[in-house]
Amino acid sequence: MCGIIGYIGKRPAFPILLSGLKRLEYRGYDSFGFFVLDKKTPFLFKKKGKISKAEKKLSDLKINGNIGIAHTRWGTTGLITDENAHPHFDCQKNIFLVHNGIIENYKELKEKLKKEGHKFTSQTDTEVLCHLIEKYFKGNLEEATRKALREVRGTYGIAVMSKKDPQKIVAARLSSPIILGINNNEFLIASDPAAIITHTRQIINLDDNEIAVLKPDNFFILKEKTPEAIEWTQAQVEKGGYSHFMLKEIMEEPETIENAIRGRIIVEEGAVKLGGLDDVKDKLKKIKRLIIIACGTSYYAAMIGRYMLEEYAGIPTEVDFGSEFRYRKSIFDKNTAAIFLSQSGETADTLAALRETKKKGILTLGITNIVGSGQARETDAGVYTMSGPEIAVASTKTFIGQLAILALFTIFFGRQRDMSLITGKRIIKELKRLPDLARDILKKEKIIKELAEKYCQFSNFIYLGRKYNYPIALEGALKLKEISYLHAEGYSGGEMKHGPLALANKKFPFFVISPLDSVYEKMISNIEEVKVRKAPILAIATIEDKKIKDITDDVVYIPKTLEMLTPILSVLPLHLFAYYMAVLKGYDVDKPRNLAKSVTVE
Ligand code: G6P
Repeated sequence: MCGIIGYIGKRPAFPILLSGLKRLEYRGYDSFGFFVLDKKTPFLFKKKGKISKAEKKLSDLKINGNIGIAHTRWGTTGLITDENAHPHFDCQKNIFLVHNGIIENYKELKEKLKKEGHKFTSQTDTEVLCHLIEKYFKGNLEEATRKALREVRGTYGIAVMSKKDPQKIVAARLSSPIILGINNNEFLIASDPAAIITHTRQIINLDDNEIAVLKPDNFFILKEKTPEAIEWTQAQVEKGGYSHFMLKEIMEEPETIENAIRGRIIVEEGAVKLGGLDDVKDKLKKIKRLIIIACGTSYYAAMIGRYMLEEYAGIPTEVDFGSEFRYRKSIFDKNTAAIFLSQSGETADTLAALRETKKKGILTLGITNIVGSGQARETDAGVYTMSGPEIAVASTKTFIGQLAILALFTIFFGRQRDMSLITGKRIIKELKRLPDLARDILKKEKIIKELAEKYCQFSNFIYLGRKYNYPIALEGALKLKEISYLHAEGYSGGEMKHGPLALANKKFPFFVISPLDSVYEKMISNIEEVKVRKAPILAIATIEDKKIKDITDDVVYIPKTLEMLTPILSVLPLHLFAYYMAVLKGYDVDKPRNLAKSVTVE
């Protein structure tokens, strides 16, 4: 995915675009560019690489003009070069455009436009949009944009400017987020609130197929919409003294649990109140089967959700990747509900799966962090995780937020069925304790850093866990891969003897997640099998476990909690471990190579 920002108003546009773009870099960071329109000299700058490298030079430039657009790219079509960076332009250098998404029929459009005489300067799918708009341009930019978009298949969030219709920015969206920021006498557009939060908290989420026209003193879109307030604060999108967003976000994990459960639990009734599900409450009583659909880290949260919902709510629950679900023949009856789980609410595969289920007429629920995201708008009902902005590409605190909400869903569905008052109360009591228990774990940051120092000589890792902590093994391994570029695989303990055990030797550490729970003894057998093969073993264990230190090399202890809630604690050391491994290797933790925060293309 890419980041977009645009500004039109009375202030110089360039510094606003530059600072906004820096905040968006987590969305894409292989190249970037600006277009600022000044009466005398329009400014176009496109560069491969990260903004930080060119920042000094750019800050020194004197760029006038109160209207501009900018973009940070995460390349999908076309190599990472200066030419392929956005903004793109047409043959006459009249139309300038930035785009997030993918134009699926770009090859055929490009062939046609070439035959009509258009000359292309990049290899991107985006550039066809500029030439299509050029083709229809008769002096009115929004008219030309509207006509051009009719010919396009795919997804887009775009911002367009024209030198010949200079006092405006035109923005449009189809399945890629675009928000408008409204301030006194100035307007902003962005792909993400993080880019404009310094200037305004009044935003409008553009809907699919809508076109917005921003002018220096007013704006219009096809439908009248009232601004809604963003609850995020400026401090939340800054590092606040931490060296990386990822570390800040890990340290916010205890607070994330508090934010997810605040105002949603009724302790004395052993029940939860989820306002977002009120309208469908009665329908949910009749549900006999659930399917949870997600991608990446959210998928691992979904797997844990399955264990919770089956054990405590008694509902058969299936889990699938958005990318698999959308192409398989799924069989439902009317008593099935689908839950979509996505931090961003914009992941292309999860959204496509949502649209598939809607065609089948079954009830759709959403869990997301982003207010007004595609998922939030398209599901029948849903709940926000309230985790605040997550800037680091690799998800950490929003994973915790999702797990807390899934625990609330479990109580909600359970109490509608056979869950007793006592059980409801017990889970709620534990949920309330979790933030403090999580804080205790995070105090061990130094110990985990030392472990990273000890283990960073190894280049392969196996993570093992069972039942609730099997998805945590997958998450621990994914995090290590994502940001430390080390080979790591997550396995269920039971599967170890079906393959991974062959890898155990002195140079191949095993990271075992083995709290005192219903599968503890089984995990101990796994550990012993690994130990005799001399592989180094790191363990996550419960404080009360006195045995484990004798059969492992290193242990990080976590406090005891209910088995279904252990993942919320056991994952914290794994997040910190991956973080410190990446720091020790000198990698760009917040912006790992080749990855993006939200994958809005297939
Ligand atoms: C990308 C991110 C991951 C995230 C996944 C799913 O791969 O890098 O951190 O887990 O997308 O994103 P979602 O927004 O749907 O949770």
